[in-house]
Amino acid sequence: MVDDVERILISTEKLRERIGEMGRQITEDYAGKEILMIGVLRGAVIFMADLARSIKVPVAIDFMAVSSYGMGTASSGVVRILKDLDESVEGKHVLVVEDIIDSGLTLNYLLDNIKSRKPASIRMCTLLNKPERRKVDVHIDYNGFTIPDDFVIGYGLDYAEKYRNLPFIGVLKPEVYQR
Ligand code: IMP
Ligand code: MG
Repeated sequence: MVDDVERILISTEKLRERIGEMGRQITEDYAGKEILMIGVLRGAVIFMADLARSIKVPVAIDFMAVSSYGMGTASSGVVRILKDLDESVEGKHVLVVEDIIDSGLTLNYLLDNIKSRKPASIRMCTLLNKPERRKVDVHIDYNGFTIPDDFVIGYGLDYAEKYRNLPFIGVLKPEVYQR
């Protein structure tokens, strides 16, 4: 698995530090409130687990799954809900948690969809931001790292459902997805 990594982009230690900072910022911003974190399956799961534990105000969690890239590395542009929320978001302070914002198509759709359900507030948090590939403008409230246009894996991010359990963010060797 590690042999398929061209280079480590963000180490375990850097991830830990930055997620700690993000947690402190979110704790401050939501003082006196409760957060409903909505994780976008499946990539956000590992980041969300660490982020939730670095936040000191009460956090409830729920998940949504939308159609994404399938087995490839380029966006289809088609967004479809595969798994909806289990609970109502009405009147809640929603924090949407993503692994990476690439084209922005997934997030754009999700935010509009959740807003229509009348949350008290809605903000978005992403571990990674790849602005070079943006197709629609999205507002990011909390961004972990801005990265170049490389296909990355690890810490929740996959290629063909593999590499999610790597404890760092790495760049995948192009020969892996070209073969
Ligand atoms: P967007 O709709 O193009 O912003 O796509 C976001 C989703 O695409 C993310 O939640 C990831 O699942 C996937 N994705 C985008 N770029 C990468 C990458 O570099 N590595 C792994 N998954 C990616
Ligand atoms: Mg994903």
